[in-house]
Amino acid sequence: MPYLLGIDIGTTGAKTVLINEEGELISSSTVPYPLSTPHPNWAEQDPEDWWNGTVRSIKKVLDDAGIDPCSIAGLGLSGQMHSSVFLDVDNRVLRPAILWCDTRTEPQCRWIIEKVGVENLRQYVSNFAFEGFTAPKIIWLRENEPQIYSRVNTVLLPKDYIRFRLTGEIAMEVSDAAGTLLFDVRNRIWSEEILDKLDIPLSWFPRVYESIDVCGRVTREAEQLTGLKSGTPVVGGGADNTCGAVGTGIVKSGRVLSSIGTSGVIFAHTDEVKVDPQMRVHTFCHSVPEKWYLMGVVLSAGGSFRWFRDTIGGIESKLEEISGISSYEILTKEAEKVGPGSEGLIFLPYLMGERTPHRDANAKGVFFGITGRHTRGHLVRSVLEGITFAMRDSLEIIKGLGLQIDQIRATGGGAQSRLWQQLQADIYNAPVITVNTSQEGPAFGSAIMAGVGAGVWSNLEEATDHIIRITTETEPIEENVQIYNGLYEIFRSLYPRLQKSFQKVSQQILKRVI
Ligand code: XUL
Repeated sequence: MPYLLGIDIGTTGAKTVLINEEGELISSSTVPYPLSTPHPNWAEQDPEDWWNGTVRSIKKVLDDAGIDPCSIAGLGLSGQMHSSVFLDVDNRVLRPAILWCDTRTEPQCRWIIEKVGVENLRQYVSNFAFEGFTAPKIIWLRENEPQIYSRVNTVLLPKDYIRFRLTGEIAMEVSDAAGTLLFDVRNRIWSEEILDKLDIPLSWFPRVYESIDVCGRVTREAEQLTGLKSGTPVVGGGADNTCGAVGTGIVKSGRVLSSIGTSGVIFAHTDEVKVDPQMRVHTFCHSVPEKWYLMGVVLSAGGSFRWFRDTIGGIESKLEEISGISSYEILTKEAEKVGPGSEGLIFLPYLMGERTPHRDANAKGVFFGITGRHTRGHLVRSVLEGITFAMRDSLEIIKGLGLQIDQIRATGGGAQSRLWQQLQADIYNAPVITVNTSQEGPAFGSAIMAGVGAGVWSNLEEATDHIIRITTETEPIEENVQIYNGLYEIFRSLYPRLQKSFQKVSQQILKRVI
């Protein structure tokens, strides 16, 4: 029986999964690695840590599964998007990778917008310049570390660096290339126009494949380190978001993913390129050949819930230690005691600023409308509702572009409790579905891509139809929909009113007057 391997180079660790042709998980291993923040707003990682984590997680998966590595038909790669790896002419790493969540590049984004122009950005690359994207990181390097910049020969993304270590091939695929801001998303090729305007050499960027194409084979050296068989085909794989989407069956129009991890993502498959006139949501290439997706990102989704647990929910964490019941579950039980709308208490989840729709690093979290009647249960429920309202902002933009939404598939935190599933159905006013693979994550999706590349399935639709089954379906409750529609209007009205105050607070923090 053929097996398939998927590897995800995440922000917190390298995860490897082994599945069989039924899509059953045979073994899985995650090896964590550190993230360094040498200055405020910086986030960096050492690509060597990714590689060591990858090697250890592959070995563990192979040991646990006890299978013959010759029976692995293919390997797929997934990874955090946008994070830049700079290599010299000998393919040596020149400095730590600058990550997607690093926001040092605000001035470089402003410069790009001025230099290229908003209309040209839309035309060349279909996206606005965001701090997290790769292009502003390259400009930052040019302005701040010219010595290193002068030695750059190749720019890669995290999973593509791991591809290089596994196969010796320098290659990329469309879904990750799309997140560089240097890629012509519409035509699935590097944009010579923007590279020219930004004066970045085209030669730094590798050949780009589709996600399911084989673009390398495991080398003998990698065989010795990992235990994989040399010659095992490695497919393009994809950005973590497209791999997560493929892993839950978002491979047809009408299907949308609502994924709640630290950040929250609304991901909608589209058969044709659609670009939001204001470019609030991203337009990127899907891992399904010749398809695209629209994506909105809430920077602090599950992150807001974790913040609440860690700061206000101390008791629940203690209870978890004693009882073994997850602190999130205990908190969710408290929220269940409160009715929809938390009696008018509204939470804005902008703990790390916000990407979609506000594009504002200064935005901040808010509890609005606290009264003497509100309890801890109300606070918890309003946090869950506020995160979901923020996700709805992306959904509304996507709907406004004329995309039909038949069903929303939930993954991550939002799929773990009945309460959050119902909240999503009520706030999105659409059926919310969970599937048997809802908790598997991006490594799983990249293993499916490997299966298509290796010929186990003929395409991603066939593969996902074979593997993925619906496990729960939650319909919106009309009464709740009405309550939430009313509150959502208030939620939406709060940010514009507070925007200037957020900015003032940020400036005063910078001046240290607070
Ligand atoms: C997407 C984004 C994040 C990272 C997380 O634009 O920045 O979702 O991909 O790994």
